[in-house]
Amino acid sequence: MAELELSNVSKRYGGLLVVPDISLSVGDGEFVALVGPSGCGKSTTLRMIAGLEEISGGTISINGRVVNDLEPDERGIAMVFQSYALYPHMSVAKNMSFALRVAGRPREEIDSRVNEAARILGLTEFLNRRPAALSGGQRQRVAMGRAIVRRPDVFLFDEPLSNLDAKLRVQMRTEIKRIHQNVGATTIYVTHDQIEAMTLADRVVVMNNGRIEQVGTPAEVYASPATSFVAEFIGMPPMNLVGADVEGDALVLDGGTRLPLPETLRTLPASHDKVLLGLRPEDIAPAGHGLDMAAPWSLDVPVSISEPLGAETLLFFELAGKEWTARMLSPRPVAPGERLSFNFDLSKLHVFDAADGARIN
Ligand SMILES: Nc1ncnc2c1ncn2[C@@H]1O[C@H](COP(=O)(O)OP(=O)(O)OP(=O)(O)O)[C@@H](O)[C@H]1O
Ligand SMILES: [Mg+2]
Repeated sequence: MAELELSNVSKRYGGLLVVPDISLSVGDGEFVALVGPSGCGKSTTLRMIAGLEEISGGTISINGRVVNDLEPDERGIAMVFQSYALYPHMSVAKNMSFALRVAGRPREEIDSRVNEAARILGLTEFLNRRPAALSGGQRQRVAMGRAIVRRPDVFLFDEPLSNLDAKLRVQMRTEIKRIHQNVGATTIYVTHDQIEAMTLADRVVVMNNGRIEQVGTPAEVYASPATSFVAEFIGMPPMNLVGADVEGDALVLDGGTRLPLPETLRTLPASHDKVLLGLRPEDIAPAGHGLDMAAPWSLDVPVSISEPLGAETLLFFELAGKEWTARMLSPRPVAPGERLSFNFDLSKLHVFDAADGARIN
């Protein structure tokens, strides 16, 4: 069990600064997900924590001990990669016990740790099989078992589920959550999949271009994204975002549509006359087909596309030069071109500075 602290950590490859300055505190037993688009520096950050990548500046400490100059195997961490990297000629049990055997642990201790991990992971009946005779999900569990038997202070995962098909990913996601609840180890989990991050983590770290955009609980980053980048990245389908001007008591969308400025936004600083407005799809619904709204504003528009998903239907329409998404509960068939009266819950508006994307409400 362990606390992990990154203070002003940076990474430079030659002249390229890929991680300028990251600070992050992870509590004992906490599950933190690093999420962001491809190339934003997630793996680099994880590899610096693991000691697989030298850091260019700052400090990394585990349990208050600076580990900057420690070798990976001296840091008390275990890493699970996207490619499971199992030894094909070894049984599941041998794969799982490899690190302990190399470390010269006594036979009884190795057996008991492997059996315990196999029990947690539901691998007991596969201990004598080779990896080739396992499914993708079972191989992924063996890779996790290899980490668990080492009883590391910190677990590091780098996209561990991305080689699995969609259904198995969802199963393994639940599995990882259950294992974390049982084992309770401090965990840093890298993924580009915001749903994986949101469902698994106690706190989500949203990265963009080597920087942290926001750190918060899944509920916080969803309800109150700190930047327009986070607003668009977290949530599926993504938040509707449109440029607007603040003019007295009105918000004027690009193209001229005027919305009343909600009470809650009356205090917007005058310096923010040009803004980006955000509204999630669930905060726009055809009249009679959504949840109760605190501050509805209505607009009649033709629907361009409807996507029935079973429990709900996504409806797309054009407004202010953008395609918007709305969510209809209690679905009914909607033909393309059909005009519907949409209610917009303006009490749920997210407002960002148009210049730098920072949240201002
Ligand atoms: N050895 C290297 N030399 C130079 N640049 C590198 C090196 N390794 C990574 N980079 C660059 O650093 C940036 C961050 O890479 P990183 O692998 O951390 O991204 P990531 O967030 O894990 O992306 P993905 O989701 O695609 O795995 C990228 O722009 C990448 O091209
Ligand atoms: Mg990566």
